[in-house]
Amino acid sequence: MNVLVTGATGFVGNSLVPALVSAGHTVTAMTRDASSYDPPDGVSVTECDLLSPETLEDSFQSVDVAYYLVHSLQTGEAFARRDREAAQNFVRAASKAGIERVIYLGGLGETGGELSEHLRSRREVESILDSNEYELTTLRAAIIIGRGSTSFTMIRQLAERLPVMVTPKWVRTECQPIALQDAIAYLVGVLDVPETADETFEIGGPDVLTYQQMLNQTASHLGTDPLIIPVPVLSPALSVYWVDLVTTVPQSVAHPLIYGLKNSVVVTDDRIRDLVPITLTPFDQAIEDALSE
Ligand SMILES: NC(=O)c1ccc[n+]([C@@H]2O[C@H](COP(=O)([O-])OP(=O)(O)OC[C@H]3O[C@@H](n4cnc5c(N)ncnc54)[C@H](OP(=O)(O)O)[C@@H]3O)[C@@H](O)[C@H]2O)c1
Repeated sequence: MNVLVTGATGFVGNSLVPALVSAGHTVTAMTRDASSYDPPDGVSVTECDLLSPETLEDSFQSVDVAYYLVHSLQTGEAFARRDREAAQNFVRAASKAGIERVIYLGGLGETGGELSEHLRSRREVESILDSNEYELTTLRAAIIIGRGSTSFTMIRQLAERLPVMVTPKWVRTECQPIALQDAIAYLVGVLDVPETADETFEIGGPDVLTYQQMLNQTASHLGTDPLIIPVPVLSPALSVYWVDLVTTVPQSVAHPLIYGLKNSVVVTDDRIRDLVPITLTPFDQAIEDALSE
């Protein structure tokens, strides 16, 4: 198949592109800056910006399937507006070119008014992508564990650098992280399973953990032993400040992610396991792999 990967240079896209090539697909990688991207052998590159629709025309020619792996968190406060516009421009270009299928990797989490701005925005992108002729497959994931994952970098650096953490209640929120290689296996796997077209699935690893357990298990791999003291009154705004002090994750990305920690992100519908059967990587193994890369 001819496959276009948007977000090809990102954390997920970087692993997805070679996996698609290995699976026998002809891949075109999209980036806003082709000069700073070194694609794997055989991969074509298209330079365009989803916020500039005039740059998109040619990229969608002869494409059968497109992956949507784009977000604008790094651009700061107006990220939700940018993500809305990027998705709308993508839909227009994909529809005009008549592509058959789109695969979107979005965010897991309970629905309702309590969703953080970041998770709400991921859902909004999902519904924009869904309003069209092509068949959309959405995979919703919580934290993806791998080297280069922003969320995992925050956990690793906190576990590594802070001997004592006084944290809000969110350390007891439940999360179902997934190893990068398992997320990639699902993303590639759905291409060969027609029943996954026009469907939304939740993907997660085999373990459900609180953020406190994730911090503790990561610390034990790193040989540190942080003391975590959850208190009911500390506002998320305060944890934002100490995450800024301790980690290297840019504020524009870290802040929306921290405000999302109040939302439980656990798989409630695991139909994907029958359709794309893979052996899931335990959290402990996923951390070990991410730290040893
Ligand atoms: N990382 C996780 O733990 C995680 C968890 C759950 C779901 N997801 C989902 O997985 C997807 C990919 O996440 P990621 O962590 O791989 O993201 P990332 O590393 O931050 O990469 C974002 C990508 O978006 C591209 N991009 C941004 N603005 C663009 C624009 N205006 N036009 C074209 N491309 C643009 C960037 O490409 P250039 O800079 O090269 O143009 C970059 O490749 C997202 O939908 C995210 O919600 C990620």
